[in-house]
Amino acid sequence: MLDTRYKMQAAGYTILHAGYRATGADLPPCRIQPPSSSISDLPSRIPLVETAFREGALALDLLAAPDLEAVIGEEPDLERPPYWPIIWPAAGALARFLVTCKEDWSGKQTLELGCGPGLPGIVATALGALVVQSDYIADALLLAELNAWRNGVRGIRRVAADWRAWPLRARFDRVLASDVTYDRAFHRPLRNVLEESLAPGGAAYFADPGRPPALPFFAMLEDEGWSVEMHALPQEKDDPTVFLYRVGR
Ligand SMILES: C[S@@+](CC[C@H](N)C(=O)[O-])C[C@H]1O[C@@H](n2cnc3c(N)ncnc32)[C@H](O)[C@@H]1O
Repeated sequence: MLDTRYKMQAAGYTILHAGYRATGADLPPCRIQPPSSSISDLPSRIPLVETAFREGALALDLLAAPDLEAVIGEEPDLERPPYWPIIWPAAGALARFLVTCKEDWSGKQTLELGCGPGLPGIVATALGALVVQSDYIADALLLAELNAWRNGVRGIRRVAADWRAWPLRARFDRVLASDVTYDRAFHRPLRNVLEESLAPGGAAYFADPGRPPALPFFAMLEDEGWSVEMHALPQEKDDPTVFLYRVGR
């Protein structure tokens, strides 16, 4: 872990620690150089296959682990399970929603939470948003960077950040999050992230594939005065129905 953090800092990432007070101006700069050498050894450490995303005029080919079995290992790290290398159905559904929802994404300051391989943030960037992708797993940010680079999508900023010790103090017009409400232990931290990072009048889009812990999360937000609108997104092949929650204040 220390080694990865070192490599990421050397490669130009900002690793933000709890207590660091960032403003919009001191978010990490866009990286315009090719992906760092630490990215090139990702495929030797993680089994990755190419996954196609097609919606409207947008055609992306991303690398991701084929399924959980391929990455879980015999002694999985239960504190930090390896969910990050997979493109979960909620990410595909949210990405398709971003393309089809007719919202103007140009110039929208957008934060992606728990980005994993990065599909929704990459799509939002392709639609004109100014995106910061975040995850607490450093390798997830490397994979998201590799995927953006392979598809010619430039300008995304990335920060390693844990919802439980949220370091960003910048505010965003939009927050994107797919499949992050599966663990009740994260609900209060995620709510605090929204409190800290969503700009007044902004909207957060959460996509969830009907996991039981999701409903109590959104009920908690409603109880606390947030507005929550839910609707089912169009289903893709054998995927579960994914629900979109639009959260605002
Ligand atoms: C189920 S995966 C979803 C990945 C991706 N959004 C998708 O839908 O394909 C959950 C993601 O949240 C990240 N995550 C989990 N706990 C986190 C935490 N406490 N702080 C920041 N990221 C976290 C994981 O590393 C992982 O990338």
